[in-house]
Amino acid sequence: MSVSAKASYRLRYGAPVVGEPPAEWTEVLAQQLAHRSVRRYRADGEVSDETLSALIAAAQSAPTSGNLQLWSVVAVREDARRHRLAALAGEQANPIQSSVAQAPLFLVWLADLARARQVTSKTGSATAEGADFVEAALLSFIDVALAAQNASLAAESLGLGTVFVGAIRNKPLEVAAELGLPPNVFPVFGLTVGHPDRLEETAVKPRLPQEAVLHREQYSLDPAHLETYEDVLNGFYAEAGLPEGWAQRVAHRFGSVAGLKGREHLRAALFDRGFQLR
Ligand SMILES: Cc1cc2nc3c(=O)[nH]c(=O)nc-3n(C[C@H](O)[C@H](O)[C@H](O)COP(=O)(O)O)c2cc1C
Repeated sequence: MSVSAKASYRLRYGAPVVGEPPAEWTEVLAQQLAHRSVRRYRADGEVSDETLSALIAAAQSAPTSGNLQLWSVVAVREDARRHRLAALAGEQANPIQSSVAQAPLFLVWLADLARARQVTSKTGSATAEGADFVEAALLSFIDVALAAQNASLAAESLGLGTVFVGAIRNKPLEVAAELGLPPNVFPVFGLTVGHPDRLEETAVKPRLPQEAVLHREQYSLDPAHLETYEDVLNGFYAEAGLPEGWAQRVAHRFGSVAGLKGREHLRAALFDRGFQLR
């Protein structure tokens, strides 16, 4: 890949100048900055077992709290099962539903406290009491996110496309049943993997200006940066033919319980799966 640092920055921030990119630029940086979620896949492209193995090796190469490795993943290829998972993830007319159905491979990433509980029960305390606490749940959620992002970037480096699918948390117990998950294992998100259809039409989505997320020495947020972003992102949405308004989207998500689309019940679902969250 030979995208220059300046061009990568321009795409990532949707603005001509955002700080000075470093003089030294790497393929990894170019790959990372070129990320975009892919929601449309070619019907003819398979993802081989060798590729799957490389993605999992990349995922397992992520750092993991205390080397506890509190995650697992289910690779779903069967058409019927992907379609059932798609239905659980999407409402009608939700494009994510067709992404899950189209992509040849759907990885369901799991926070997995079952393995560590088993090991602890055999060698330490029979109750594995420490795994009942929020800390253990957090560790597993952090671990699985780091692993999945490594896999996603690895897929992108191979010319594949991915999109994370948090929407499986709309129906986590049904997803758990579909995948035969044991207690103490929770489906956190899915990741579609496939060959992008018309990737060139999928633009890099600009992010907040660095000044909005990077605080030096102490936290201080200037609301002006959010306004700048609103303008930049509205340009992106207009080109993509999507409704405008980043702040609107944030507010839609957090303004009321309705925005959670059923995920307000997650605490109960986690408890049901054995995550005590003490
Ligand atoms: C944990 C996680 C869950 C996500 N869940 C969904 C989802 O359910 N449906 C969807 O269309 N996109 C989903 N996304 C993708 C985001 O919408 C996307 O990353 C974001 O809009 C930025 O766009 P980009 O990835 O193209 O840069 C998810 C992303 C993450 C990290």
